[in-house]
Amino acid sequence: MATLVTGGAGYVGSHTVVALCEAGREVVILDDFSNAHPRTVDALGAVVDRRPAVVEGDAGDPAVLEAVFDGHRIDSVVHLAARKSVAESVADPLGYYRSNLGSVIELAAVAVRHRIGRIVFSSSAAVYGTPTEMPVSEDSPTVPQSPYGETKLMGERILADAAAASQLTAVMLRYFNPVGAHPSGLIGEDPSGELSNLVPRIMQVAAGRRDRLEVFGADYATADGTAVRDYVHVTDLAEGHVAALDADISPARSRVYNLGTGSGATVLQVLAAAAETTGLTIPHELAERRPGDVEATWADCSRARAELGWQATRSLHEMLADHWHFARSHPGASGA
Ligand code: WQD
Repeated sequence: MATLVTGGAGYVGSHTVVALCEAGREVVILDDFSNAHPRTVDALGAVVDRRPAVVEGDAGDPAVLEAVFDGHRIDSVVHLAARKSVAESVADPLGYYRSNLGSVIELAAVAVRHRIGRIVFSSSAAVYGTPTEMPVSEDSPTVPQSPYGETKLMGERILADAAAASQLTAVMLRYFNPVGAHPSGLIGEDPSGELSNLVPRIMQVAAGRRDRLEVFGADYATADGTAVRDYVHVTDLAEGHVAALDADISPARSRVYNLGTGSGATVLQVLAAAAETTGLTIPHELAERRPGDVEATWADCSRARAELGWQATRSLHEMLADHWHFARSHPGASGA
């Protein structure tokens, strides 16, 4: 039996495929390669020593999904295929609702029809919007500030309702800020589109492909005035998916978990840590706040620890060292 991983050629997806294979599971990847490269699948084959089955197609297309479920013995699903740019979602809300929710609805319908036991859903800290209490727990208010965040919250609700009415168990993982790469340097963040997140931008400056980092906002009420996030190693995150597939949560039918480290770092702290890790000077300039940004957010991860037996173990230094290792050895990747 195999686990279907939608978006399995993407950043979190490829690392999740590695974690699943290392846990002894068979994997089928479904990816439309709209923001990923087929070369990632080749690299995955080298990391896990066998090439996972790959289907090229849209996770929102019922015909594609039926063919995948008919053609493979699927017993569980990890659903990561989605559009994920906050700014793009503000410019193209209907595109985001159609794509991110269409795939959830179609996938849940096929999973119910094929009597699949469990679906693990890639959700986001974006569902919380601006937190009113810190750290953010799963019971904190959910007030998304963008169509992207709305699609994640609605996706959770759709899956919870589908699970309540069927045999399906749904596990929602709210990621904080994923950073890093596989320690082999073979896979990492390699989208076909533009990168706008902090660490990839820092690495672009370190690699000389960008003059300086713009620090968006230096007047926040934080230790040094710059915004605080909970950065979590993508391998830790990937291992959270294995724990979510194995966890005993069936009486609840669906459950939500934060995946972060439980502590935050400011933009300037990340920058200083990256300079130390790379041994390079990384010029920066203070700039205006980025519209829609939250001042500070970090996760209360006690539920994942208690119920999934999962805890992030890798440090910010490891995240940056692994990210840099991949970026440096892949000058063609957008993050380099
Ligand atoms: C972090 C901090 C920026 C770039 C988003 C999504 C979230 C998740 C991760 C999942 C902010 C500052 C950034 C730069 C900067 N997505 N920054 N200069 O916005 O917390 O989270 O990506 O797929 O759901 O909302 O992450 O890395 O963009 O920003 O100063 O060039 O770094 O303003 O304070 P964010 P980020």
